[in-house]
Amino acid sequence: MAANVPMGMRSLVALKYCLPTKWEVVDVPVPKIKGPKDVLVKMHAAGISTGDTQIARGGTRFLIDGLKFPHKIGVEGAGVVVQVASKSSPFQPGDEVYAFAMSRPMDVTAPHGFCSEYAVVNEDLMLRKPANCSFEDLCNLASTVTAYQAIEQALEKMRENGTADGLAGKTVFVPAALSATGSVAIQLLKNVYGVGRLLSTVSTPKVPLVEQLLPGLVDQVVDYTKMSKLTDAIPKGTVDLVYNTIFGVRSTFALAKPETGVVASIASVPDPALLRKMLPPLPWYAYVFAALAQWRYAWALRGTKVRHFMHSGQPSVRADLERAGEFMAAGKVKSVVRVVRLEDIEEVRREAMKVATGKGGVGKLVIKIV
Ligand SMILES: NC(=O)c1ccc[n+]([C@@H]2O[C@H](COP(=O)([O-])OP(=O)(O)OC[C@H]3O[C@@H](n4cnc5c(N)ncnc54)[C@H](OP(=O)(O)O)[C@@H]3O)[C@@H](O)[C@H]2O)c1
Repeated sequence: MAANVPMGMRSLVALKYCLPTKWEVVDVPVPKIKGPKDVLVKMHAAGISTGDTQIARGGTRFLIDGLKFPHKIGVEGAGVVVQVASKSSPFQPGDEVYAFAMSRPMDVTAPHGFCSEYAVVNEDLMLRKPANCSFEDLCNLASTVTAYQAIEQALEKMRENGTADGLAGKTVFVPAALSATGSVAIQLLKNVYGVGRLLSTVSTPKVPLVEQLLPGLVDQVVDYTKMSKLTDAIPKGTVDLVYNTIFGVRSTFALAKPETGVVASIASVPDPALLRKMLPPLPWYAYVFAALAQWRYAWALRGTKVRHFMHSGQPSVRADLERAGEFMAAGKVKSVVRVVRLEDIEEVRREAMKVATGKGGVGKLVIKIV
């Protein structure tokens, strides 16, 4: 171990399966480099995602069990390299970096614990920090990669449906403008893909914040709490692409153009084939459930040519990870974050509960460690 690395460190953990209200900051050993691509990073900031809260509360336990406690929280973050496994590593001590821990978002077997003073990171999932971004700005990497991959896939589906001219000037609906994922997707769609009309939803207190935090990007802000269905505010069959970020994707189907529309979703039930790629082998009933969900989607879309698909982000596709980094470095995707200090455990718990419940948060929750 390098001379300046202590034996112990502070880490945000779940001591048992629990909600964030029971999370603690405890002393644990500093993790050690094991694999040839491991890099030890002194973490400055870490993001908290829905996946973190789901895994820590045991939400995936009926599918995959065996979480070890204390379970260290955090799968994305930014910091400074303190030790590398080999001289041939592209990274060196002192490099400022940011990274994701898992090749896929719900990989519970991957090493967690970025919300700690030190974390071991796989160099294949790590990028250099651009000078114009803060450590806190770079804790929403997975949302950016996921959005880029899903939009590229959506473009393919649009071509298959007869729309060959891309997204420039098109109408796109992205629910939850100020969510971690929605805020990123909106910026990519407008700043990179040239979408013409961007429609989105938020709850009442957030309506005035949309223009403040995403200036000039959202053309129609809908307060979703004031209507029973989306078509009360957005005419049926008028949207070229839905980029869905919320549970209940079927509520967005009516918006899509019936002949050419595409619904790209990051919060649908995956089909059995995707589920097999996303997670280790699961009990048979998980695949039956996934297949039944596809049947329900198809039934809801009957009589239309709308294409719906679920995308599970894959930061392990290095070219896509680097592309996402380029968008952030170029300022095309700027972080919308709320930052809480690790020492303020009450505030950490309060804000993480918003992530766990999917209500009330503004942007990505980032924990400032240094
Ligand atoms: N497939 C993938 O690769 C991938 C990657 C990342 C995340 N995800 C999934 O994507 C989903 C969103 O994650 P996130 O990180 O963006 O969550 P988040 O930052 O916690 O945001 C969730 C937001 O949804 C809003 N919301 C709740 N119900 C709504 C409704 N009916 N209509 C409109 N907005 C609503 C809430 O806003 P209000 O406070 O205004 O209600 C809340 O801010 C999660 O299910 C997550 O697991 C998937």
